[in-house]
Amino acid sequence: MKKILDIITDEMKKAFAANGYDENFAKVTLSNRPDLCEYQCNGAMAAAKTYKKKPIDIANGVVEQLKDSEVFEEVNAVMPGFINLKLDPAFLSGYMNGMKGAKKLGMDEVEKPETIVIDYGGANVAKPLHVGHLRSAVIGEALKRMGRFVGHKVIGDVHLGDWGLQMGLIIEELKDRKPELPYFDESFTGEYPEEAPFTISELEEIYPAASGKSKVDEAFKERAQEATFKLQSGYAPYRAIWKHIMNVSLKDLKRNYANLDVDFDLWKGESDAQPYIPGLIKDLQDKGLAYESQGALVVDIAEPTDTKELPPCIVRKSDGAALYATSDLATIVEREEDFKPDHYIYVVDKRQELHFTQVFRVAKKAGIVPADRKMDFVGFGTMNGKDGKPFKTREGGVMRLENLIADIDEAAYNRIMENRTVSEDEAKKTAEIVGLAALKYGDLSNQATKDYVFDIDRFTSFEGNTGPYVLYTIARINSILKKYSDTCENTENGEILPPSAEPEKTLMLALSRYSDVMLTCFEELAPHKICAYIYELSNALNHFYHETKIIAEEDRKKQAGYISLVTLTRDVLMTCINVLGFSAPERM
Ligand code: ARG
Repeated sequence: MKKILDIITDEMKKAFAANGYDENFAKVTLSNRPDLCEYQCNGAMAAAKTYKKKPIDIANGVVEQLKDSEVFEEVNAVMPGFINLKLDPAFLSGYMNGMKGAKKLGMDEVEKPETIVIDYGGANVAKPLHVGHLRSAVIGEALKRMGRFVGHKVIGDVHLGDWGLQMGLIIEELKDRKPELPYFDESFTGEYPEEAPFTISELEEIYPAASGKSKVDEAFKERAQEATFKLQSGYAPYRAIWKHIMNVSLKDLKRNYANLDVDFDLWKGESDAQPYIPGLIKDLQDKGLAYESQGALVVDIAEPTDTKELPPCIVRKSDGAALYATSDLATIVEREEDFKPDHYIYVVDKRQELHFTQVFRVAKKAGIVPADRKMDFVGFGTMNGKDGKPFKTREGGVMRLENLIADIDEAAYNRIMENRTVSEDEAKKTAEIVGLAALKYGDLSNQATKDYVFDIDRFTSFEGNTGPYVLYTIARINSILKKYSDTCENTENGEILPPSAEPEKTLMLALSRYSDVMLTCFEELAPHKICAYIYELSNALNHFYHETKIIAEEDRKKQAGYISLVTLTRDVLMTCINVLGFSAPERM
């Protein structure tokens, strides 16, 4: 279906053109004075300069053309030359009926589907998943689903940190604890054991212990660096340990992401990019881009239009080691080989912005990707505690994601039990759904770049701009529908009738914007705007519900129309939350 804003704009264009004005003046926006009108057009003001006329005269002429328009109920020109628009009720209900029966509720998919790689999650193997990784997972998952919904081919890659110093630390700690293992016997020639030399809980304890030790014990740290280097150069016994670390840790990571309802198409990591590094370095040198500076190999990335000085990108340290940027560049080489994506999106902490600016610029300068390839860095802010500092446990430690989820589920459970409409058992299950919605909505409703305060009381509230409020609205609709099917005889086909009251029209106006919202939110990579939309839609539904007798309505035709309208509202809400990455319980 044509987007509502396009229909309105086209109608205005016709009117401008009919009076001999360039139709590009007919730009329409949502009204910023909802008390006066629903949409507005300020084009007469701009046209006035071109045609040397008074804006109000232009506006009056355009209004005259729209007298018989089926799209508008009311069109007014007001000083100095605004055109205020109100939609025709029958046109609006017709649009609702169109949405009701259409695939994807009337949203047309993008004309040119792209292949998009979204790099998100970014967990580090063998280190516990903490709240710092939460935002990347939540925002990335939403963007992936949004992109798919509007019709793109989207590939989600977790891009694990699986090639760093943590591996050497674990190896050396293991050597201290279990020197008898064959991996530490250089004369060992047999097969390495199939079973990992540690469980997940041991691994979870080994890494922090080793990391702590390396901070006070310089010799241990050097050993760990050496072990990391040996692993990276392919030393077989350490490769064998590394595989065990990967297996054990991945199983745990997968479970954690599944709890968040986040899933990846690719479980690749920095290690997968390593084979591409020698070719990459050679290419950068052959093209004359990489040069030696104080022993390191660097590529200049500064551009004349930069407002601040950007340092060169280091691609090889003086000791010959590759760096984070090298690995990200090599990953792009790999992705070009595998997918030739039209668009790259990285969802990473905003403190890594410089890193990505460097990586994108080198990739383009070196022709790893064409200069016009879309590469977006979606940098996000920090999740803070109520004290305004990065979120911690009550004891001041790093909060593990699992514990955070358990806390929010418990808070959601208590809220549900306050309502006491369901059994304890059902409340437990419902709490998991509501808790996840609270967590994700609490995050997604903020513009990604902003820091936000994790406020468990506010996030789990059934009132206000929260996930549970949206779910509660859906549950309310479900309960209306149940009552209707239990008590009312349905003889009508449920055609939505032209709205006869303000709350009904307001609801329809909100619904009609749905495809516009979906399409622009992905274009702008802005899930927070979908949140704002479903909050507004929920408010409109609840306002309508309070002002309208639905179950008690005696006019069967009217009643059936109401039922279709609230069903459509539920379908739009469900589609939106699904795209954001959470779901709704039947009731709560
Ligand atoms: N593992 C990194 C970290 O924890 C995040 C990885 C982000 N993605 C990337 N392609 N660099 O900081």
